[in-house]
Amino acid sequence: MALYALGDLHLSFQVDKTMEPFGSIWRHHERKIKKQVNRLVKPEDTLVLTGDHSFGKRLDQCEEDLAFISGLPGRKVLLRGNHDMFWDAKKTDRLNRHFDGKLFFLQNNFAVYEDYALVGTKGYTFEGPFYLDRRGRIVGWDEERKAQAEKLVSREMGRLRESFRQAQEAGYRKFVMFLHYPPTSILEESSPFTEIAEEYGATAVVYSHCHGEQRFGDSIRGSFHGINYMLVSGDYLNFQPALVLP
Ligand SMILES: [Fe+2]
Ligand SMILES: [Fe+2]
Repeated sequence: MALYALGDLHLSFQVDKTMEPFGSIWRHHERKIKKQVNRLVKPEDTLVLTGDHSFGKRLDQCEEDLAFISGLPGRKVLLRGNHDMFWDAKKTDRLNRHFDGKLFFLQNNFAVYEDYALVGTKGYTFEGPFYLDRRGRIVGWDEERKAQAEKLVSREMGRLRESFRQAQEAGYRKFVMFLHYPPTSILEESSPFTEIAEEYGATAVVYSHCHGEQRFGDSIRGSFHGINYMLVSGDYLNFQPALVLP
């Protein structure tokens, strides 16, 4: 058995939208996803998909995308990304009933992998606008957007705490924490998300959302305060799921 993660499939079987402006890696990327996932993931494995599944805005525009995901091997656990308009956070139970036995939607709940609880939420990070000097150094930022970002971080932290609380109440002491957004903004060295991961002693923090060479280094990668931070954006991994736990 193994636990894998991959983020940002950005499927669009039913809508006319593509990630190709972000580079040729996105050309027919659904074929790469299918090939890589089928090569690695066994039916008994768990695959966490860390958000931005579909460009469809409503559930009926995502059916083929979700059917594609459902057809991949292993047990699929899905996290909300900023593009996942089909998923109302407050109606996650409805999605879980609808896709029962096929897909599990992780929001205000938790999943289990061996003796680990898989907890998570979309998260949020401030992404600017930043004001730069001639050398490209950040000299300021949009205060209003920053204040709005702080509100969103606080809402997401509430949802993440609920996920941890339920897992702990059920007796779990080992955690893997999933976010869609990176755990820190490019201005931060730590954040409420890194703090809660440390508070609960999470083994790993897994996130995606960052696309393109210039964004891959936006947040923490590798070991930080004893926690393994893993970026699993599809284009970062050439759509090969990352092994989180053996
Ligand atoms: Fe994305
Ligand atoms: Fe995203």
